[in-house]
Amino acid sequence: MIHETIVTTLNADGGVHVAPMGIREAEGRYVIAPFRPSTTLENLQRAGCAVINLTDDVMIFAGCLTGRYDWPTRPASRIAGRLLESALAHIEVEVERCVEEELRPQYFCRVVHHASHRPFAGFNRAQAAVLEAAILVSRLDRLSADKIDGELDYLRIAVEKTAGERERIAWAWLLERIEQHRGARHAEAVGS
Ligand SMILES: Cc1cc2nc3c(=O)[nH]c(=O)nc-3n(C[C@H](O)[C@H](O)[C@H](O)COP(=O)(O)O)c2cc1C
Repeated sequence: MIHETIVTTLNADGGVHVAPMGIREAEGRYVIAPFRPSTTLENLQRAGCAVINLTDDVMIFAGCLTGRYDWPTRPASRIAGRLLESALAHIEVEVERCVEEELRPQYFCRVVHHASHRPFAGFNRAQAAVLEAAILVSRLDRLSADKIDGELDYLRIAVEKTAGERERIAWAWLLERIEQHRGARHAEAVGS
């Protein structure tokens, strides 16, 4: 099973890097698998540790996909890292080994600390829809406009019926990003 999380790592200058990442468990370890090239990958390689943040704040997922990386964090307990203030729970991990792969290396990580901060409030369809739309945005170069529009039409139903304020804002950021992408494509086509 893959869980969609926010992985926070430290950059060489000590700044925090925030990135949505799908995490799976295998052999009693958490596996983080960033596609190359990736800042998360560089930081994992250099620092050998990360925080896996479990959050239902979809603004962070949508934010990272639309250039909004400045989310409140605080220091982790047992590693040189930072966790998201809004995490329901977080897991501090150290890289144990890396399975090198050209496209997507896999970092097997052991848990050094795990803490819960807030209860899980229950599933929300708009949050799931925003996550799916964020995935679409991460694949804008590979998916056709028709495919994206068809998926958005379906996802929009859940957003309209069940979203709160944060989900609506996150959804709007993603739609805006899709429009920008189309505008840039159009400009390229007209210019060429
Ligand atoms: C729900 C979700 C899950 C994602 N999972 C992964 C992942 O497992 N690996 C990956 O490389 N990118 C994943 N992405 C895309 C990255 O978050 C995005 O490309 C990001 O820029 C990663 O690169 P960075 O480490 O340089 O920031 C995911 C995006 C979303 C919205």
